[in-house]
Amino acid sequence: MDIGIVNKRYAAEVDAELERAISGCGAPEPLISAMRYSIKAGGKRLRPCLALGVCEMLGGNAEMALHLGCGIEMIHTYSLIHDDLPCMDDDDMRRGRPSNHRVFGEGQAVLAGDGLLTFAFEYMLGMGLVHESKSYFKAVHEIARRAGVSGMVAGQSKDLECENSETPDESALSFIHSHKTADMLTAAVLAGAYSADAGERQLLALERFSQKMGLLFQITDDILDYSGDEALVGKTLGKDENSRKLTFVTLYGIDKARELAERTAEEAKSILYAAFGPGAEYLVQTVEKMLSRKY
Ligand code: IPE
Ligand code: IPE
Ligand code: MG
Ligand code: MG
Ligand code: MG
Repeated sequence: MDIGIVNKRYAAEVDAELERAISGCGAPEPLISAMRYSIKAGGKRLRPCLALGVCEMLGGNAEMALHLGCGIEMIHTYSLIHDDLPCMDDDDMRRGRPSNHRVFGEGQAVLAGDGLLTFAFEYMLGMGLVHESKSYFKAVHEIARRAGVSGMVAGQSKDLECENSETPDESALSFIHSHKTADMLTAAVLAGAYSADAGERQLLALERFSQKMGLLFQITDDILDYSGDEALVGKTLGKDENSRKLTFVTLYGIDKARELAERTAEEAKSILYAAFGPGAEYLVQTVEKMLSRKY
């Protein structure tokens, strides 16, 4: 399997479905332009690819995974628009272009985020009425929980609370990363699993795997902020140190962060081998790609 080719196929399906969905969302100008600007800015589409990859690995319903994955991508994109606002990380660049509020102004950027978040659920629930599957609605509930006040929003809140903190706090760092990042990746993996009516044991193994992968993804995000190539990453780098953020690099240093990334990748792969054997090739390659990612 060449994961590059597989992900290209998934991303093309996701891009087409996102365009179809957003075109019909009913938002007026300039709101629709602000929403479309960030959705179409060329993100990696990691989360919907994970939903589709897990669904295919388990022989599930690809349409369900596509609809859930697109909803997750809308929620993820809203979180990035809000994350870049001056009252949060105050970032001028995102996905290789000016961040949403730099183009549309802060008010419209807040609303584009609100719009994407709310429309994500309108869209996913509307599709649910077509699928009429209990597993699909379980997935939507899981997505809501992991995106919300005990998930990504909680992690983002702690991230802001820990800015400029004088005392390094390992448990706060672990809370931040498991919620602001790992929860949405876990939601995507479980959405793929629910689309395949996965059993309890598979769901548990995938959840354990996703937490490790989420941690790995955020460690590499922190490493890229410290030592990446801005042209490839597509965001202003060096921000974590300047804003005195609590990250793996600011807490442990770059060498330890790299070591931790490698160890976490091995742990993630062990969980996969034990639960799925060679059938988990898509996820194993995802982990390997994540470890060496340049953007
Ligand atoms: C960035 O996510 C925010 C984090 C959770 C670190 P991605 O790196 O997946 O962003 P896009 O979607 O490719 O722009
Ligand atoms: C934000 O983490 C994760 C989100 C939920 C948006 P970061 O603040 O580290 O993400 P980047 O580096 O701006 O993409
Ligand atoms: Mg942030
Ligand atoms: Mg940020
Ligand atoms: Mg970052």
